[in-house]
Amino acid sequence: MATTLEQLGAEAAGCPRCPLAATRTQVVFGVGHPNADLVFVGEAPGREEDLRGEPFVGRSGQLLDRLVLEEMGLTRDRFYILNTVKCRPPDNRDPRPLEIEACNPWLEGQLDLIQPKVVVTLGNFATKLLLGTTEGITKLRGRTYPFRNGSVLVPTFHPAAVLRGGGEPMAKVRADLVRAKEAMGLTTVTP
Ligand code: URA
Repeated sequence: MATTLEQLGAEAAGCPRCPLAATRTQVVFGVGHPNADLVFVGEAPGREEDLRGEPFVGRSGQLLDRLVLEEMGLTRDRFYILNTVKCRPPDNRDPRPLEIEACNPWLEGQLDLIQPKVVVTLGNFATKLLLGTTEGITKLRGRTYPFRNGSVLVPTFHPAAVLRGGGEPMAKVRADLVRAKEAMGLTTVTP
């Protein structure tokens, strides 16, 4: 059993557990601080992530980085970011239930090793999986949930939904990030 994220990532790099193994360029395991208090959980890699091997490096990721910096004062070296499904679904289709299930042990392993205080789920797939519910993100966001090992889960919209939806979802994501910051015990910084 892997005892470090590096070891787990090396094991995941050759993962054959679902059909996405045949179409991916590489497994996009996750990046950031290995003992971060804060973990973001996205959906699945897109084209740029599949090519670069890093989560959230496209437009959604740039927006997320900006909002996290503005609302929480944190840069990527201070948190960890990963996806529910580690390989790109072809043509950016939604991940399938079997793919999410096959990939879940990697996600569980990552959370066990990182032991964050706060987990922010981005969008429906991560939120439904980690809260074990079929309820949608619109209903679930806006509050914190007790999560494993005394941590807290803060669901919010996926940044792609903000790119599509504009000001209203953006204001809600900002509010959720402030919620996450408070849950981390960080004080609000006035610019
Ligand atoms: N969207 C995600 O959910 N994850 C990524 O890594 C990129 C876009």
